[in-house]
Amino acid sequence: MALLTGSDRIKTAIFISGTGSNLKSLIKFSKVKKSPIIIKMIISNNSKAKGLQYSKIYKIKKKVFDFKNTLSEKKIINELKKNNIDLICLAGFMKILSKSFIKNFKGKILNIHPSLLPKYKGLNSHEKAIKNKDKYSGCTVHYVNSKLDSGKIINQKKIRITKFDTPDTLAKKVLIQEHKLYPAAILKIFRL
Ligand code: GRF
Repeated sequence: MALLTGSDRIKTAIFISGTGSNLKSLIKFSKVKKSPIIIKMIISNNSKAKGLQYSKIYKIKKKVFDFKNTLSEKKIINELKKNNIDLICLAGFMKILSKSFIKNFKGKILNIHPSLLPKYKGLNSHEKAIKNKDKYSGCTVHYVNSKLDSGKIINQKKIRITKFDTPDTLAKKVLIQEHKLYPAAILKIFRL
């Protein structure tokens, strides 16, 4: 496979709301030879998101929007189109995107979720898995459609829950696997 130059890599925007550990791992992934993506923008709904620090460290454009209404969504869509964004990765992003937003980027929005979907959609997946005494939890990368955490699954990683696990220890174990799963999902989509 020919080495992808910057110009033919898929222009990608990463959406965050908090720590940005998945953002950091996707930035590192974008810099390896076989990576098909180039990260052009970091978008957040939260001006205080710790992950915005990576915009400065890695010199990637950042934009904060309030995602409160269709007007602000129209501004985001224009910004993304202006930057020829062709892939959106939600990474710890806590807002629900509207149907019209998703339609504008059909089949081009991915999300990572800390459970073995379709189990435990939404919040507090680790608490639910432990409360139900599940033997396994894990993480999932999926396409985003208009239903919460319900788009076509791309890949998953299963993680054993031990009797010593708390939601915190499980979250830490799952997060380590998320950082590997997201790059693997992108390679899988682009069959590399
Ligand atoms: C991760 O568990 C992710 O799956 C969930 O938000 C958590 C924090 O992600 N959506 P990050 O550290 O901000 O990437």
